[in-house]
Amino acid sequence: MYIYNETLKHLCTDSERPNCHLLIEPHLLYLTDNQADAYLDVVKSNDYSKIVHNPVTNIISDHLDEITEEIKDDVSLIELGPGYPDSSLLIAKHCYEKGVNLFYYPVDISKEYLSIATKAMSPYVVESTPIHSTFEEASLIIPKKAYSRKVYVLIGQTFLNFLPEVLLPLLCKLASVKGIVILAADLLTNKDLITETLQAYKDRSNAIFTRAPLINLGIKSTLDNYCVEFYRSRIECYHRCDKTIKLPPEENKSFITIRKNDKIITAVSYRYKIECLKDILKQYFVESSFLYSKKREVVIAINKT
Ligand SMILES: C[S@@+](CC[C@H](N)C(=O)[O-])C[C@H]1O[C@@H](n2cnc3c(N)ncnc32)[C@H](O)[C@@H]1O
Repeated sequence: MYIYNETLKHLCTDSERPNCHLLIEPHLLYLTDNQADAYLDVVKSNDYSKIVHNPVTNIISDHLDEITEEIKDDVSLIELGPGYPDSSLLIAKHCYEKGVNLFYYPVDISKEYLSIATKAMSPYVVESTPIHSTFEEASLIIPKKAYSRKVYVLIGQTFLNFLPEVLLPLLCKLASVKGIVILAADLLTNKDLITETLQAYKDRSNAIFTRAPLINLGIKSTLDNYCVEFYRSRIECYHRCDKTIKLPPEENKSFITIRKNDKIITAVSYRYKIECLKDILKQYFVESSFLYSKKREVVIAINKT
């Protein structure tokens, strides 16, 4: 019942597209352990890894000295949405080799990912404190002790699943004063790359993964009804409803109707031109520096609060 209510709470209609419903709060995709496994299948899919996932870890491993430049002493690493923590593992191993004490705070709605991340990081950290929470509530749970050290906040391409005006204030709050926020973003460079990326999002593992919020609402949907489009600067993954359905409402509210052939968007990933991303980051951070993949289609921004 919790999963049904939590999902229903976020269902809304796109005001500009009446036959289009939004279920795009990212944590709705990870409310069950099965979903954590479904995401691992997406990462294993070759196209997705090649285009979306690998460039980030390549940038990090090529620039470990620059990324950890400010780390001289004990450090707290708060990682939002570790999934399998391959980026933080690179940083943690590097700190370990430098003789720096790293205290790790993975934040995730998925207990399964917290346990995977904690286990993988254990050889390289002094202590792990898993924070089972949404990103939005994490600042209330992270122990004060974390802020007795320099704080690094790390988020991978999960950054792209949120509107920047929603996520960036949270990242600043988590990093506190004189902290560092590291984030990854795929850039909008040319049309061919978007076509290639859309193709990567179209595979079966993504269809299964993005169907979860529908299943949480009890909507049966075949994988044939899955589509991906680029609209308003974001990749949208959606499923078309194959029959009209009425969803039982929360108490005292009326039934919600989703009609046959309506679109339900369950995942979005924003894309920015580099100039636009720089302008956005300027509004939140004192200073930012940028590291690029070889083809400059992926960037890692290192931001000071
Ligand atoms: C796409 S995976 C991240 C994988 C990897 N770290 C990366 O960025 O490439 C997203 C992760 O963020 C978590 N997540 C997404 N939205 C969340 C939210 N609002 N609160 C807490 N966890 C969230 C998911 O459970 C999942 O582990």
